[in-house]
Amino acid sequence: MLADKVVDCHVLVIGSGGAGVRATIEASQYGDTVLISKTIVGKGGCTTMAEGGYNAVLRDEDSCGVHFEDTLKGGAYLNDPELVNILVKEAPLRVNDLITWGAVFDFTENDEIAQRPFGGQRFPRTCYAGDRTGHEMITTLVERLDSSNVTLLQEYTVIDLLKSGESVIGAMALDEKGNLVLLKADSTILATGGGTKVYDISTNSSSGTGDGFAIGYRAGAELIDMEMIQFHPTGAVFPYDARGRLVTEAVRGEGGTLLNNLGERFMKRYDPERMELSTRDVVARAIATEIQGGRGTKNGGVYLDVTHLPHEQIETKLPVMLEQFLKFGVDIRKQPMEVAPTAHHIMGGLRITPECRTTLSGLFACGEVAGGVHGANRLGGNALADTQVFGKRAGEFAGKSKKRIKNVDDDQISQKLEHLDTFLKGSENPARVRTQLQQAMWRGAGIFRNATDLNKTLEIINNLSLANVRAESFGNLAECCIVRNMCLTASLICRSALIRQESRGAHVRVDIHQTHDAQHSPFNHTFISPSRKGIEKNRGLT
Ligand code: FUM
Repeated sequence: MLADKVVDCHVLVIGSGGAGVRATIEASQYGDTVLISKTIVGKGGCTTMAEGGYNAVLRDEDSCGVHFEDTLKGGAYLNDPELVNILVKEAPLRVNDLITWGAVFDFTENDEIAQRPFGGQRFPRTCYAGDRTGHEMITTLVERLDSSNVTLLQEYTVIDLLKSGESVIGAMALDEKGNLVLLKADSTILATGGGTKVYDISTNSSSGTGDGFAIGYRAGAELIDMEMIQFHPTGAVFPYDARGRLVTEAVRGEGGTLLNNLGERFMKRYDPERMELSTRDVVARAIATEIQGGRGTKNGGVYLDVTHLPHEQIETKLPVMLEQFLKFGVDIRKQPMEVAPTAHHIMGGLRITPECRTTLSGLFACGEVAGGVHGANRLGGNALADTQVFGKRAGEFAGKSKKRIKNVDDDQISQKLEHLDTFLKGSENPARVRTQLQQAMWRGAGIFRNATDLNKTLEIINNLSLANVRAESFGNLAECCIVRNMCLTASLICRSALIRQESRGAHVRVDIHQTHDAQHSPFNHTFISPSRKGIEKNRGLT
């Protein structure tokens, strides 16, 4: 065997955010389970950074039907209705799991789980733990994980899937010293999270590099709707190093207002009914339009103001925001924040069934790396629910899957070793490639898109993908693999954005004149894999 170490298990889970850890807890009930993560479990990924909340229908006045409709409408009717139905029905069960396992959500005086309004929803159904909801969830999940019989491989970077014929039989990874590790598994779950770190300005942690999209694609899986990138309306604009950092939608949920430099509450021109609690695609475009129209702040944002709210409300409901902005020199009880859109979430991803099976046998996906749940625009609060609902499903169905013969042919390994060897002989600094990629994506594949810019960006990405990146030592091999993954994910985004010749949800093509609205679109999902790409016709239309 050419690898330095071989691990054999029933279920391999790749990624340790909310979906990955939930999947691991579930899968461990069915057999040996290994959780592999490029960070320390619970410290990386986006779940821990998620602030605002978790959507679940918990009150008699609310209903799964309304949550379903809100999600489809918010998603510009591109969502897979079957997946949405599962999300809304199972989100309440999964939040109860968390509470049973010790998560401390906010409660009302009547001893009910507190819920706040979030954008695009007709009922205040977002459960929360102040403005550190994701952190509370991941802490609880990791504690639960610690009591299950699971092998953790932390600070290991998965670099590709292992295949036998058309089936996935595990993965190849590098440990922190750059040694090659083979992980053989009857079922493999990709739960690698998102990838908006391919943009210059992003809410994602440094681990949001899109590895799962790239790894899945290279193995032959089909991805859908990769053009659908959510720009969260409110990211920090200063100080420089904090650009893009999430300013939670909970600020608007608690009553925060958006103002331009003329002091106008400009949302009345874009969505007079829902105002600041319109869907994120609408609010992000409104803010970008105000800034482009010269009505922004001197730091290049707009104002987000909570100074009219009682200090106690800010201190108890938005403590992280208060503390974060105090560090930036702004007391949000007395001064407005400055915010601008920031790349936040990838709605597209690996095509999955309700059992979280991908188009490749042996491979499952859940959480942000999977596509279809959120359509063309995700509602705030639906991502944390998604991690738990589909994390549990992926773990369960992967766990219940049959054992398989896992014969690894040495050719696959030697090809990978040769590939890694080229990095040791390379000359280009991977950090420079990463920065150039991020800047190109921000310029050419942002909120407002056109074919000329997308093609130009794709050309830059193609050149960067060919760059001869250098690993200074074995320990730096993973960094080179990650930069390559970023280039591939960015390319999938641009290629899909060129395929979708319409504006829909978060995807706006300013170069296309359009007469249909989202509900009457002739198009359904874009799809892309190494063997085919295109766009589906909308089956609802004749
Ligand atoms: O604004 C927020 O707190 C983010 C929530 C989400 O993306 O669901």
